[in-house]
Amino acid sequence: RITPILLCGGSGTRLWPLSRRSYPKQFSALIGDESLFQASVRRLTGKGFARPVVVTGADFRFIVTQQMAEIGADPAAVLLEPAPRNTAPAVLAAVLHIAATDPGATVLIAPSDHVVRDVPAFHAAIATAAAAAAEGRIVTFGIRPDRPETGYGYLELDADGDGAIPLRRFVEKPDRATAEAMLADGRYLWNAGLFLARADTLIAAFEAHAPGLVDPVRRSVAGARADLGFLRLDEGAWAEAEDISIDYAVMERAPSLSVVPFDGGWSDLGGWETVWREMPRDGAGVAASGPVQALECRDTLLRSEAEGQVLIGLGLENMIAVAMPDAVLVAPMDRAQDLRLAVSALKAEG
Ligand code: GDD
Ligand code: MG
Repeated sequence: RITPILLCGGSGTRLWPLSRRSYPKQFSALIGDESLFQASVRRLTGKGFARPVVVTGADFRFIVTQQMAEIGADPAAVLLEPAPRNTAPAVLAAVLHIAATDPGATVLIAPSDHVVRDVPAFHAAIATAAAAAAEGRIVTFGIRPDRPETGYGYLELDADGDGAIPLRRFVEKPDRATAEAMLADGRYLWNAGLFLARADTLIAAFEAHAPGLVDPVRRSVAGARADLGFLRLDEGAWAEAEDISIDYAVMERAPSLSVVPFDGGWSDLGGWETVWREMPRDGAGVAASGPVQALECRDTLLRSEAEGQVLIGLGLENMIAVAMPDAVLVAPMDRAQDLRLAVSALKAEG
């Protein structure tokens, strides 16, 4: 059985103002009526899966348990990070926690803010990956790219084929020119952000490629304190762990990666443009949600979560308008990625 490790500590700043420091996007119902986190948990529940280990920030602990209870899911453990340190320390903490009782466990590291349309195909890809993981590989999932996205990792295939294909190279978040070259080349897939491997394989990979992380994270897990069903990682040791993603810390450096191609409708809801693509749209490309009205608009996203306040778009093209009770965003669609910058300037806002 596979133990899912669900990462849900990200802050999702590119989906401001829906995503807030106090209530990040993975806990919101961006598409459909359950949250992205709930949909992620549900996808990784059932036959073949053990109960998941969730890693999140201490501030989100009750959102996590409440949202899991709402869908009848029960975590094996909820690890709380004293401070966000990006995904490498979070993953390593979960893997060490699992390996303490079962070093040979197979784990699936999964983000909690993605959409997957074809769940049976997703489960089939996981089963294919599990076979390669049993042989000591770290298995990634590859998505056929359709644009030179710079916010993703790229996987260079060694050969074509069925099953888990060996990887030649993992390139995290390339610059624009490199992304364009990789798109044109045709041998590259996007990294979907999920990783499947045995716990002991991953620990060995951290030891080989990110040795500086292992000692502080190990101490932080060993010194974790149980608190109301949560496991609080030790703060002092955690503070010594480098702030780095697993992609840079391990995946770009590890030689034994494989990829299982996946074309079951994967999408990372990283920004408003992707949300717009995933929402139902009318013939003019207008996606509307909440008390909104679009008049003569094209290729526009109108969204209001502000009850009792109507949002009207008139003659908009390629625009995003998102209204929350206390904040409103209006921006051209092609500037959506720059929100990260805008929000860091606005930090005090929360
Ligand atoms: N617990 C915890 N703590 N979770 C975190 C933290 C943290 O400090 N930081 C991020 N996460 C969670 C996010 O909530 C998300 O679910 C997942 O980890 C991935 O983090 P992102 O910050 O969204 O990563 P990314 O989108 O920039 O890049 C990754 O995903 C891409 C595909 O979506 C990489 O793996 C890329 O290579 C990949 O293409
Ligand atoms: Mg992401």
